[in-house]
Amino acid sequence: MATESPLFTFAFVTDLHFDRQHDPATPLVKGLNAGIAHPRPDFVVFNADTIDGHPDLAEMAWQNRTVKSILDGLEMPYYTTCHSHDVSLEKETTPDNTYRRAFGGEAYDFIREFPGGFAGIFMSGCYVDDLGNYRDLKDGDPVSAAWLRKALDGLKGRKVLFFYHFPVFIPRKPVDAELRRQIRPEMEAHYFSMKKDNPELVRSIISAHGGVAAHYAGHCHVNSLNVHDGTYYVTTSALRYKPCEYLYVRVFQDRIEHRLIRGYDPGEQPWFWGPLVDEDHLTPEAYHGGNPDERDFVIAL
Ligand SMILES: [Fe+2]
Ligand SMILES: [Fe+2]
Repeated sequence: MATESPLFTFAFVTDLHFDRQHDPATPLVKGLNAGIAHPRPDFVVFNADTIDGHPDLAEMAWQNRTVKSILDGLEMPYYTTCHSHDVSLEKETTPDNTYRRAFGGEAYDFIREFPGGFAGIFMSGCYVDDLGNYRDLKDGDPVSAAWLRKALDGLKGRKVLFFYHFPVFIPRKPVDAELRRQIRPEMEAHYFSMKKDNPELVRSIISAHGGVAAHYAGHCHVNSLNVHDGTYYVTTSALRYKPCEYLYVRVFQDRIEHRLIRGYDPGEQPWFWGPLVDEDHLTPEAYHGGNPDERDFVIAL
């Protein structure tokens, strides 16, 4: 029986939060190279919070350098973006930061061509660029917004996959802020959402193109899905935290198939958000891992 082959496949991985105590990178690299859970992907995307970060810059440098050396063991290309854990905005206030020194200058914002006329836009945030601009789309910075508009203008009529760490939609219904504060005192209630009008700004830029199949995000450490103007807004859970999953993605001319794969065993670990639920996610497991329709979905093109 003939089986249809995808145009290309990739693994979408986010929020490794690598540090001296937690190394989700090594088992992931081993599993992807060996093609254990699925055939080897054509490439891998690491969508920021790749390291946990640290107040000491020497430790930040060690984390970025070390995780890079582990990811270099992948036997396929990989792409990275950065966000608030990868760069210490308090201390790394110039373009010369520990993330860039480890991953190289092009690691911030770039475009890649994929088979079948697809293109990928990779966007970083929470860093200072070569002109001294603070860059983060989630804060509505005009340089990032202009860069994204221009990138999409150059890809008119194309099918686009957009990779950027911060979700545009709130992945979970607002829960009792007091409850969240009790569980995660260091987290603010607005952790889940972009502030002010910035979600509308980003959505309008994406919608204006008309061909962005999906925005792939991380950050919130839950699996979630929203659809708006024909674009799927995908949020994938953290590899480091339960359920420790990444997305295996198969791209065909007429559809994109997604499957969540467990990539790391953290041993005994509490749920990242604690025993939270919301009106659509009735158990902590569903709150973090998503409902079935958020875990297994196909984008028709
Ligand atoms: Fe994170
Ligand atoms: Fe994050």
